[in-house]
Amino acid sequence: MAATAPVRLLDRTPAIEVPFFDWKALYEERSEDYLRIIDETASSGGFILQAAVEEFERKLAGYLGVRHAIGLSDCTNAMLLGLRASGVRPGDEIILPAHAFIAAAQAIHFAGGIPVPVDLEEGDGLIDPDAVRAAITRRTRGVMAVHVNGRVCAMDALRSIADEHGLEIYEDAAQALGAKLDGQAAGVFGRWGAFSFYPSKTLGCFGDGGALVTNDDELAATVRAMRNHGAGPDKSIAPDCAVWGTNARLDNLQAAILAYKLGWYGETIRRRRAIASRYDAAFRAITALNLPPAPKSATRAPGWISSFSTTCLGFCQASREGSFMCRYPHSAQPASHRLTINNALKHRFDKAFIVSLFCKESTKIDYIVRRRS
Ligand SMILES: Cc1ncc(COP(=O)(O)O)c(C=O)c1O
Repeated sequence: MAATAPVRLLDRTPAIEVPFFDWKALYEERSEDYLRIIDETASSGGFILQAAVEEFERKLAGYLGVRHAIGLSDCTNAMLLGLRASGVRPGDEIILPAHAFIAAAQAIHFAGGIPVPVDLEEGDGLIDPDAVRAAITRRTRGVMAVHVNGRVCAMDALRSIADEHGLEIYEDAAQALGAKLDGQAAGVFGRWGAFSFYPSKTLGCFGDGGALVTNDDELAATVRAMRNHGAGPDKSIAPDCAVWGTNARLDNLQAAILAYKLGWYGETIRRRRAIASRYDAAFRAITALNLPPAPKSATRAPGWISSFSTTCLGFCQASREGSFMCRYPHSAQPASHRLTINNALKHRFDKAFIVSLFCKESTKIDYIVRRRS
């Protein structure tokens, strides 16, 4: 994705450049704190799997109300390890939405599974439980719910389907840290949930970062071992090490930054919601954009969504050529699963416009809103 995107202008306001992500400005807002944290962490001499990682894991688990949070290198690897630790075997089918970021499909593929994309609910942008039900075969192992735009999937319906058919639920909650459904946090509905702390995410670090959260003690222990080459809690690799691991660790510098940012995460969410609401009000009437539902809108029942629009409009921009998942190699899917994905295809966007849910200056937001075409 380009750092800036062109805007077709209809009025005579002088053009200004609005970065898609204004990371520099956000860094500068709290640079003294960041530099202090980096100095404290580096001067402690602990860089890998030391106190800062444990502290962040404790804080994240507390924030979400879950037993275990495991700091990992990124969300894609969190999903890969989660799937492997869940015992996904070659040929297992995992159902996921046809429009989402491609990382979930890639994790399923690398875990040996077969990603089976299904349609979204019309006007909703999230996986359609009826489409999930229709795609179940005797090889189906689980459902990957992807909570895009900070909105939570219909977990109640997915849970009943999963229980009925003996399936597991996994959650790609990369875009949904802090989103809730009926008081329960996204990421803790299924066997495990995966988060991303890539800089553009609502809780972003200064590089790559991710986490897996779960209430399953055994799965947590396996993922902890897997992230560190199969090492046990003492960080040594036993000669008869039973777990195939890799390197998927979150480093201490990122963990220290994340623990600090989690301390004022409520403020971050409020700010992004306010900006998203302004964009929503400005662009909602442009039906060709087919925007995701507005922040706070309740599409099923009052209170169904008590989340926020995180990457909402930024996601539209990135997807204007069509859905990421629709570009997923068709030939890699079994013929029986080349399903109709009409609603997912509607998530094409004919208009490009610059949005930044990270803008510090309200003048830039005013400018974007004024210049809509
Ligand atoms: C829905 C979703 N899943 C997964 C990812 C991948 O996250 P990471 O870059 O941390 O692997 C992203 C990142 O953009 C995402 O938006």
